[in-house]
Amino acid sequence: MPNSNKPQLCSPRSKRPPRSVHIVGTGSYVPDRVLTNADLEKMVDTTDEWITTRTGIKERRIAAAEQCTSDMAAEAARRALEQAAIKGEEVDLIICATVTPDMVFPSTACLIQQKIGAKRAAAFDIEAACSGFLYALEIGQQFIMSGTYNTVLVIGAEKLSTIVDWEDRNTCVLFGDGAGAAVLQSRTHSHGILTTCMGANGALADLLLVPGGGAKYPASKESISGKMHCIKMSGREVFKSAVMAMQTAAEEVLRRCNLTTADIKCVIPHQANLRIIEAIAERLEVPMEKIYINLHRYGNVSAGSVAIALDEAAREGRFQRGDLILLVVFGGGLTWASCVIQW
Ligand code: ACO
Repeated sequence: MPNSNKPQLCSPRSKRPPRSVHIVGTGSYVPDRVLTNADLEKMVDTTDEWITTRTGIKERRIAAAEQCTSDMAAEAARRALEQAAIKGEEVDLIICATVTPDMVFPSTACLIQQKIGAKRAAAFDIEAACSGFLYALEIGQQFIMSGTYNTVLVIGAEKLSTIVDWEDRNTCVLFGDGAGAAVLQSRTHSHGILTTCMGANGALADLLLVPGGGAKYPASKESISGKMHCIKMSGREVFKSAVMAMQTAAEEVLRRCNLTTADIKCVIPHQANLRIIEAIAERLEVPMEKIYINLHRYGNVSAGSVAIALDEAAREGRFQRGDLILLVVFGGGLTWASCVIQW
């Protein structure tokens, strides 16, 4: 719980929200197929020892060929709605964060809407790479705070296995598939999402991207042979930018809430690399026991990562009602975001 001498928790950038916004249910889904580091040793020139020491990842989940991003997202959404005891038809808005939509259009959110029977819901996708779930959370929060909607379903879902170059050892060891979801509603008591922060730096767009398949490099023989539809990454530069961005974003939301990391019960960072998380922990002076980590089991699931981690941490009882938690992410764009929630 926060130090009682500290001022009331709210963001100084705006008036007290007219309605406080709460996560009333979470859910996640990962595919059954496990791809281990030993499996990858047979595919590219790598070793379990290299992957483990450089990233902390031991295995990742890979969706079946016929299983789309919207299928995984819909399953995570059903689980979140079930926990919240809310029916699909009660949802007003679905926001799906993904860089691996089923198709260019319609949006994956529209496909999820049909799959979960959310007939009344408006639906759209957002794309902020690995920061997508927290971007979506903030958008959903705004719709509820403004009084436009009562129930918003926020999802982070990815089938990254479809955009990974399985011959590139620099990237293929890092990523996996899965989805996480959260149901947002307002409540009268003052807990909930206390403040959020989002940022971007397009000057660093070239560090992490999938260049092909958009309007700049539409599908062509050349784009296919050049593997332009796969993830390209300058790993070392992304690493440095990630640590800086996550530190800044985390410090910003803590400052706005007049909190320190000592007040936080659980930190849920983007699950890209254990060494990035350790660097953040050191800079924020957070003991590793307070940090929720599942990247050894799933790798980096981009927009799905922090959504899955939030659901698993909540279900494992890593925090209780009233506890403060800190979510912090970064991703392609570059983008970053953070959020303090009083559970
Ligand atoms: N197995 C064995 N060797 C490898 C592998 C591998 N899988 N991958 C790279 N190497 C080699 C490199 O070729 C290089 O060899 P060289 O020195 O002979 O050239 C050596 O290992 C060191 O490579 P580095 O890139 O310097 O290794 P580093 O310690 O930086 O780790 C890593 C690489 C894991 C990619 C790290 O830089 C990282 O995690 N960066 C951040 C990436 C990230 O988080 N991306 C996701 C962003 S989120 C989103 O929006 C998708």
